[in-house]
Amino acid sequence: MENALKIARFHTRRSGVIAFSGGFHGRTLACVSLTGKVQPYKAGFGPMLPEVYHLPFPMPYHGVTVEHSLHALEQLFKADVEPARVAAIIIEPVLGEGGFYAAPAELLRRLRSVCDTHGIVLIADEIQSGFGRTGRMFAIEHAGVEPDLITIAKSVAGGVPLAAVTGKAEIMDSPLPGGLGGTFAGSPLGCAAGLAVLEVMREEQLLQRAQDIGRFMSSRLKGLQVRFPCVGDVRSLGAMVAVELVKNGRADAPDAELTKALVQAAARQGLVILSCGIYANVIRFLAPLTIPDALLKEGFHLFELALEEVASGAKAKAAV
Ligand SMILES: Cc1ncc(COP(=O)(O)O)c(C=O)c1O
Repeated sequence: MENALKIARFHTRRSGVIAFSGGFHGRTLACVSLTGKVQPYKAGFGPMLPEVYHLPFPMPYHGVTVEHSLHALEQLFKADVEPARVAAIIIEPVLGEGGFYAAPAELLRRLRSVCDTHGIVLIADEIQSGFGRTGRMFAIEHAGVEPDLITIAKSVAGGVPLAAVTGKAEIMDSPLPGGLGGTFAGSPLGCAAGLAVLEVMREEQLLQRAQDIGRFMSSRLKGLQVRFPCVGDVRSLGAMVAVELVKNGRADAPDAELTKALVQAAARQGLVILSCGIYANVIRFLAPLTIPDALLKEGFHLFELALEEVASGAKAKAAV
């Protein structure tokens, strides 16, 4: 993300950056400035990078629409910064840390058009959503929108440390030789692992597998939604699946306490799950795309046991 930002700045010779609240882009100082969550990422680490602006990310479950985001962008250009000062708009096509909300196609199309009009670089942060996770190589493909730069990491080398910025040559080639780089850049082990991942993705048809895993998980979660009022929302894009936990089925009553208890109960069952979300009330499912069916089913069974345990505990507490 640091390099993507540097490339966009060098290419445009501009400094402003627009990102989204709830977005997560990393923990180094420029990245944390782009990240749209104060605790625990920004607080105490300031001052942040100047000229970084945040727009609301659409979250239909919480009443935030594409129109809200676009209106905020309009306001930003009126009140804070002229478009000719903005180097890049940075967006996760599916919010990862922020709670697995997919950016609506309409928003991505409109951002593309704003970037085209004003010569702004559109950067898709696909570090979590990319490399097959959503059933396409990149999540932004679902919207039919072509970004200028894409950042990738995580799945790109199956867990071996490797990250990359890819993009249009005329933008990528802007910085001078030596302007980008690092001690571990182009690590041979990471690159070899990256090539092996590409092979496995083709051989094992992992894009299709991501869709199958996603379908299995969301149908099981929707079944749980009928049984448990605490399961407020189930959403997925391919194998990027999440469940949002609330009090009594109410979107405006996120249940972070229950979510924490669920993570702990799952661990007792032998299952590691990860929470996320701006209200810390989302469980995200990121099963490996190579997971065998039997293991996936076993994992889900353990999740159900853990949910039963914490949901019945919450019910008993409510009755008291
Ligand atoms: C969308 C997204 N961007 C950026 C990052 C940051 O990656 P790193 O921790 O390797 O700096 C992450 C990590 O979780 C991420 O999910």
